[in-house]
Amino acid sequence: MKIENKEYRTIWLDKDTQTVKIIDQTKLPHQFIIKDLKTVNDAINAIKIMEVRGAPLIGATAAYGIALAVKENNDHNFIIKSSEELIKSRPTAINLKWAVERMMKKLSGINSNKILDSALDEAKAICDEDEKFCVNIGLNGLKIIEEIYNKKKDTVNILTHCNAGWLATINWGTATSPIYHAHKKGIPVHVWVDETRPRNQGANLTSYELNEEEIPNTIIADNTGGILMQRGDVDICIVGSDRTLSNGDVCNKIGTYLKALAAHDNNVPFYVALPSSTIDWEIKKGKDIPIEERNSEELSHIVGIDENNEIKKVLIYPKKSKAMNLAFDVTPAKYVTGLITEKGISEASFEGLKKLFR
Ligand code: MRU
Repeated sequence: MKIENKEYRTIWLDKDTQTVKIIDQTKLPHQFIIKDLKTVNDAINAIKIMEVRGAPLIGATAAYGIALAVKENNDHNFIIKSSEELIKSRPTAINLKWAVERMMKKLSGINSNKILDSALDEAKAICDEDEKFCVNIGLNGLKIIEEIYNKKKDTVNILTHCNAGWLATINWGTATSPIYHAHKKGIPVHVWVDETRPRNQGANLTSYELNEEEIPNTIIADNTGGILMQRGDVDICIVGSDRTLSNGDVCNKIGTYLKALAAHDNNVPFYVALPSSTIDWEIKKGKDIPIEERNSEELSHIVGIDENNEIKKVLIYPKKSKAMNLAFDVTPAKYVTGLITEKGISEASFEGLKKLFR
């Protein structure tokens, strides 16, 4: 998608230098900086400090991380150790483990003189596949937006949480892909963007990328969705997912569950958009998903720009107060109207997912 009218993907390989390029998301929306990842440690660090984030993009970065490890040292033990470090870099988004395991499977038994090319090819294949899946998610989700528009004959108001936009994937996004496709088709859409405290991925990333594509959007405080739904100002919620269980329970950015409850109480359809790489077929219960607890400084401090356009971080809490920062929550399947995947729209249940994927 576009930034200042130029098309980008979120991660790519500079073939001449075999350096991986990313957009540093910690600086958005105030500065647009492309960063180089030269070593596996650069990739691990980029995931840990959220220069890259969002489940599909974390997976793609980890895939390129394996390729960078191979480039540094193609000794088997080094690659294994690197894969373990990558998997540990963030705990909740399942795409990370999925991508590393796919890379390791691909590389097993490959000749050492071919291993780097294979690693780079597979990392690119993961990116290309994610982009294709996001396009299909968009086309499948478009049908739901179209149906609402055909009944309403007026702007479709969509509420989304966090950033499940193209910046969280390789391109198009998950939750935003149906929105981009509807906009391209000429359906009038307007997006309510949850700010998404504490790191403000909604305000800093979703609103930013929607602006760049000229999609009308309004940032709201995270607690505003409920009253908007009571007033009939939300036609549909579409969110992303960091890990969806085979029973349809959805783990996503903290606050998603409360939006799903409000949607349920107000008969607003609540859809989750995800590629199959986000499905965890192993864990059976939402309470068993590892929930990342991040540094409380993300709550107690806020980052913005000053009058000289310099990025500054300031304390906003009483110095003595403690804060707790859980990054994700789990929405039980019963509150999810449907799962929008690359293969179609499924009921949030084992039977529904099995029909599409097994
Ligand atoms: O902590 P983040 O920014 O990596 O969180 C992930 C997300 O962007 C969201 O939870 C998103 O809705 C799912 S990923 C498409």
